[in-house]
Amino acid sequence: MAAFRRMTFRFIVVEMVLLALASAERAATQVKRGCQSECEGVQIPYPFGTTPNCYLSEHFFINCSSSTAFLSHSNIRVTNIILNGSLHVMKLVARDCYNKNGTQASYLTTEFSLSTFNISNTRNKFTVIGCDSLAYIRGHIGDRYYKAGCMSFCNSSQYIQNGSCIGAGCCQLEIPKGLSDVRIRAHSFENHTNVSDFNPCTFASVVEQSQFNFSSSYLLNVSERLPMVIDWAITRNGTCKEANNSSGHICGENASCYKPDENDTSVYLCRCKEGYDGNPYLPHGCQGI
Ligand SMILES: *[C@@H]1O[C@H](CO)[C@@H](O)[C@H](O)[C@H]1NC(C)=O
Ligand SMILES: *[C@@H]1O[C@H](CO)[C@@H](O)[C@H](O)[C@H]1NC(C)=O
Ligand SMILES: *[C@@H]1O[C@H](CO)[C@@H](O)[C@H](O)[C@H]1NC(C)=O
Ligand SMILES: *[C@@H]1O[C@H](CO)[C@@H](O)[C@H](O)[C@H]1NC(C)=O
Ligand SMILES: *[C@@H]1O[C@H](CO)[C@@H](O)[C@H](O)[C@H]1NC(C)=O
Ligand SMILES: *[C@@H]1O[C@H](CO)[C@@H](O)[C@H](O)[C@H]1NC(C)=O
Ligand SMILES: *[C@@H]1O[C@H](CO)[C@@H](O)[C@H](O)[C@H]1NC(C)=O
Ligand SMILES: *[C@@H]1O[C@H](CO)[C@@H](O)[C@H](O)[C@H]1NC(C)=O
Ligand SMILES: *[C@@H]1O[C@H](CO)[C@@H](O)[C@H](O)[C@H]1NC(C)=O
Ligand SMILES: *[C@@H]1O[C@H](CO)[C@@H](O)[C@H](O)[C@H]1NC(C)=O
Ligand SMILES: *[C@@H]1O[C@H](CO)[C@@H](O)[C@H](O)[C@H]1NC(C)=O
Ligand SMILES: *[C@@H]1O[C@H](CO)[C@@H](O)[C@H](O)[C@H]1NC(C)=O
Repeated sequence: MAAFRRMTFRFIVVEMVLLALASAERAATQVKRGCQSECEGVQIPYPFGTTPNCYLSEHFFINCSSSTAFLSHSNIRVTNIILNGSLHVMKLVARDCYNKNGTQASYLTTEFSLSTFNISNTRNKFTVIGCDSLAYIRGHIGDRYYKAGCMSFCNSSQYIQNGSCIGAGCCQLEIPKGLSDVRIRAHSFENHTNVSDFNPCTFASVVEQSQFNFSSSYLLNVSERLPMVIDWAITRNGTCKEANNSSGHICGENASCYKPDENDTSVYLCRCKEGYDGNPYLPHGCQGI
């Protein structure tokens, strides 16, 4: 009985070691050989990488030099890279804040360029918080210029409805498809003088909708950064159709390409074929399951 237990135990130990090896191998297949797979707890799968030999192109550069994962040359903090084309980030919130006597206390305009990536139009909203507030968002959709604004008023925090952005304390706009290169400015009409007791600032940012639930407490202050989702895709080496041919192939073995947006033929993503799992962007990233 004891011998049997010992054997079973040994078997389990061996199995655990094998499992550990298998998962180490799986983790190793997320990056190119010799590349950093993590930056302060954020996994960096290929095509993303922290050095030129580790990423596909400059767009996929993650700057980990200050032990924070910044996207390319921006000050956007990356929190999660998903291989199906989503990049979860924390973006600085634009603000315009006043002292009770109406003099400006602080002001921050935010600006960021996503090169070939776009702000997700389905997952984010342009969000303005304040009771004497006006904010603008401007950017580019391809070559086209885009500018829009949102206003929000209230004269008491008692009239605020938690959970809804209806222009009283909080105002939201949809994001147009294909927006990148964004600049956000926050302003006030009367320096928040009539509302200074409960709302000294106007705040504005592009915010991930599923992570945002407006509350009157936001009128006092919000975090320095709020979550946002970026859509990424591969723009190199031709269309999806061409990528599936042998030449100019980015997707690896046992992987195929697909268009994240049926109407945009200039970009594509890769995924492992059925029965395979791993990183479809690496030559041998997809392994049988
Ligand atoms: C990476 O970020 C640091 C500061 O966080 C900056 O000094 C450095 O220039 C950046 N590197 C590149 C290549 O952009
Ligand atoms: C990517 O996968 C996550 C779940 O892992 C899902 O929530 C998200 O909607 C997917 N995104 C796209 C663009 O398919
Ligand atoms: C307004 O208030 C700020 C901070 O309370 C103070 O530093 C500043 O001197 C005041 N300005 C005037 C003109 O009273
Ligand atoms: C409001 O603030 C602006 C600076 O943003 C300042 O130029 C202006 O004099 C202020 N107005 C009042 C009434 O304090
Ligand atoms: C807010 O404005 C409404 C309409 O102008 C007014 O009836 C109400 O008394 C105001 N409330 C406060 C707290 O100033
Ligand atoms: C938002 O918060 C309110 C309470 O403040 C709650 O009733 C509502 O269900 C929340 N909505 C979401 C989507 O979490
Ligand atoms: C971003 O949007 C532009 C303009 O619509 C489009 O040409 C480009 O392919 C999009 N990029 C991605 C990664 O989807
Ligand atoms: C702010 O207060 C002043 C004086 O109480 C009043 O004249 C003005 O209409 C108020 N502004 C707003 C936007 O309520
Ligand atoms: C809204 O939520 C805050 C806490 O997040 C709470 O202090 C406030 O009383 C709530 N307001 C209403 C109208 O429910
Ligand atoms: C508001 O929040 C920011 C970021 O969390 C913080 O730096 C700042 O001190 C806060 N301001 C106040 C008045 O609490
Ligand atoms: C993609 O195209 C570039 C030139 O545009 C070429 O240098 C590179 O080898 C191609 N990559 C693949 C995997 O074919
Ligand atoms: C593609 O374009 C067609 C026609 O303009 C439109 O009905 C459809 O919703 C678009 N698909 C996506 C994913 O945007």
